[in-house]
Amino acid sequence: MAVKTGILGLDAMLYGGIPEGDQVVIVGGPGAGKTLISFEMLYRGAKAGSPGIFYALEEDPSRVLQNAQAAFPDLKADIDDLISKKKLIIDGREPTEKMLSGGDVSAYEFGKVMAEIEDKIAQIGANRVIVDSASILSLLINDPIAYRRSMIQLINNMRRLKVTSILTMEAETPERSKLAFKPEFFIFDGIISMYQTGEGDKRTRAMEIIKMRGTRHSFVTTPYDITPSGFKVYSAEDTSLY
Ligand SMILES: Nc1ncnc2c1ncn2[C@@H]1O[C@H](COP(=O)(O)OP(=O)(O)OP(=O)(O)O)[C@@H](O)[C@H]1O
Ligand SMILES: [Mg+2]
Repeated sequence: MAVKTGILGLDAMLYGGIPEGDQVVIVGGPGAGKTLISFEMLYRGAKAGSPGIFYALEEDPSRVLQNAQAAFPDLKADIDDLISKKKLIIDGREPTEKMLSGGDVSAYEFGKVMAEIEDKIAQIGANRVIVDSASILSLLINDPIAYRRSMIQLINNMRRLKVTSILTMEAETPERSKLAFKPEFFIFDGIISMYQTGEGDKRTRAMEIIKMRGTRHSFVTTPYDITPSGFKVYSAEDTSLY
């Protein structure tokens, strides 16, 4: 079964949504909209009855919420309502702070982050999880092999818990032509890429589904906007089907 992202044009690009229980990475340059689009997916899911957790590893969770409410003023009342009903949980900063202050950061510390995410999933019976951003793990775990192992462990844990998860990762460049895929990307079931192209006031944003196992999907690089009522994805597919 497909899990709708709730973002109309993106669901059309995905021919219905993300296969249930799959692990997807959203890759994009700074300011592409990774945090906001993953927040919106979680919000749309919660509104449709699927509780979700947004686990912020980089920004303070309260900042994530503030930014989302500022970017999506039309959704603010609804977001507040879902948070008060515990259908939407935004959490996460503390373990990262502990890891950063601890000096000696290891895969063991990362295991504690995983345990904390699992606790939160159990608490609200979440079936959708966002981890924003997973890139910080590469900063926290210096040894490249330990880092890749930790990423695989994170993905395997999400699989075991049967949650549909989205991890965001920073691309080193916002330009499509310069994007290089890191080895760890291949462990994901799906990869969505967000780009900014052009210069100055002529910049446009576009997204592309690089892969999504087990479903048909669009291969078209599709423009998008961030509007007060959420993302608009100008899909070439017929959105009325989804
Ligand atoms: N209040 C707002 N009104 C309109 N647009 C906004 C608002 N807040 C953010 N945006 C847009 O969203 C973009 C940031 O989105 P987001 O934080 O999701 O990006 P990101 O890919 O997570 O970036 P980073 O790599 O820095 O974490 C901004 O560059 C801006 O274009
Ligand atoms: Mg972000």
